[in-house]
Amino acid sequence: MKNLTVIRHPLVQRDVTLLRDKRTPSNQFRAILRRASTMMAYEVSRELPLKKISVKTPLATTSGGVLARSVVLVPILRAGLGLIGGFVEVLPDARVGHIGLYRDEQSLKPVDYYFKVPRNLREAMVFLLDPMLATGGSSSAALTYLKKRGAKTIVFVTLVASPEGVRLIQKDHPDVKMFTCALDKRLNNRGYIIPGLGDAGDRIFGTE
Ligand code: PRP
Ligand code: URA
Repeated sequence: MKNLTVIRHPLVQRDVTLLRDKRTPSNQFRAILRRASTMMAYEVSRELPLKKISVKTPLATTSGGVLARSVVLVPILRAGLGLIGGFVEVLPDARVGHIGLYRDEQSLKPVDYYFKVPRNLREAMVFLLDPMLATGGSSSAALTYLKKRGAKTIVFVTLVASPEGVRLIQKDHPDVKMFTCALDKRLNNRGYIIPGLGDAGDRIFGTE
């Protein structure tokens, strides 16, 4: 699908399977998601530009690289918090914003309650993080907000996506590249991803 990359690394796919398993308790779910998020961060940052610098080893001077662009990570609360640990580990200089949204259970429309993002988003590479892309309403609203705040380059990173959600982001935000670890079959009539992994926020925080 246009603008969508599926991360097929076997270690990531193993972790997706463990996360799908309904027997995986919250403490393990959190740890596995954190491990998977480290690998996801590595995969999605492949195209970050490098600036050439010279570096002195104990023996000689050679050329090396530093990241040429600032990085901003923006998890969508709550479940996006489950991805932040691995991303910060791989991108320790990243600044971090937060977007608070939840889905109204009846209408499935996003309700916003918190926004705080760093200044100067215009120059930054922004990674929007949310493990679940279901109807796409939450992530589309978050992308619109980030653009209003000046973001020009945004990559949306998710663990499990539905075809419906991918299509909505393609329509509303054709400039945004998406990464997922699984493109699932469909949504059920309550807007849950099938087969999915259930409610990601509940499984991370044990609020079921
Ligand atoms: C979940 C998930 C996404 C959203 C996806 O959040 O983390 O943000 O649903 O659904 P959508 O694509 O249909 O908008 P939820 O609303 O359950 O909030 P929570 O993370 O605070 O539990
Ligand atoms: N949010 C979730 O956490 N899971 C779904 O399947 C859909 C929305």
